[in-house]
Amino acid sequence: MSEPIAGSPRTALVTGGSRGLGAAIARHLAREGWHTVICGRSEEDLDARVREAAEEGVELHRVRADVTDPASVDALFEELAESAPPLELCVNNAGGNYSHRLVGVREGDDPGDRELKPHPVDTWERTVRLCLTGVFLVGRRAAEAMLRDGTPGVIVNISSAVSAGSYGQSAYSAAKAGVESLTRTWAVELGEYGIRAVAVSPGVIDGAALRRRSAASPRHAAYMEALRGHVPLRRWCSEQDIATTVAFAARNTAITGTVLEVDGGGLPSRVVVG
Ligand SMILES: NC(=O)c1ccc[n+]([C@@H]2O[C@H](COP(=O)([O-])OP(=O)(O)OC[C@H]3O[C@@H](n4cnc5c(N)ncnc54)[C@H](OP(=O)(O)O)[C@@H]3O)[C@@H](O)[C@H]2O)c1
Repeated sequence: MSEPIAGSPRTALVTGGSRGLGAAIARHLAREGWHTVICGRSEEDLDARVREAAEEGVELHRVRADVTDPASVDALFEELAESAPPLELCVNNAGGNYSHRLVGVREGDDPGDRELKPHPVDTWERTVRLCLTGVFLVGRRAAEAMLRDGTPGVIVNISSAVSAGSYGQSAYSAAKAGVESLTRTWAVELGEYGIRAVAVSPGVIDGAALRRRSAASPRHAAYMEALRGHVPLRRWCSEQDIATTVAFAARNTAITGTVLEVDGGGLPSRVVVG
């Protein structure tokens, strides 16, 4: 059973539930009756989300945790084991994109005068650590908890439409492709115990992160507008589109090892503006 039963609450953990998409997923799950726990690094953001939800009559629980730190993830799962009902749904949502082009090329005034800037190693490692290693660290503890408790639960990993490769996003695209691969691997490893793994792959989300970046850079705003023109449905997806898909993945016990694409029909890997 992967739906919380009335009177028998089950826990849903949402990593990165303190902002953006994760906060929307958490609120949606809590409204559906899950004992919903959000985690993130900022105490302030966690408190704010719990408070805002309470004002809407929705109960969220919070645990501060850094998904890139094995000791912090261990402590998170110890706290869940002590203070929450059995874990039945783990949403690996925490992520961030610090990618660049493999080699940035800036043309100088004179022909052949080029400034070349290779992708920094630190932003590569930061992105892969958060988007891929973080999913691994949380996923292994979640599966362990479900196996220990005998809970036929589900791990939902948030991927991205750019997992197929995308201009300027070496680290992020590779990490998200890795997330989809982990999902398939976990599905075949855990299926015999009734535990499922599903990836949800959003296109561009019309949310705070997009608005922030577009407001900060007219160039980014113009690029995103051009990109949207290449999406078959000519629209971004909303946080609610993704939250309802996560809930669907949790409910539908026939789904495992698959990637649910919620992207308006897909994104091109590059558009050229101007
Ligand atoms: N926005 C989009 O258009 C889009 C499209 C496709 C896929 N996605 C994916 O959707 C997910 C959410 O994206 P978003 O746009 O909502 O991101 P966001 O607004 O930047 O929020 C990221 C969340 O992750 C948390 N987080 C970051 N580093 C963490 C760490 N080391 N440990 C624990 N939590 C951490 C943040 O809280 P703290 O900073 O306080 O830790 C925050 O709650 C990501 O996996 C992203 O790749 C987003």
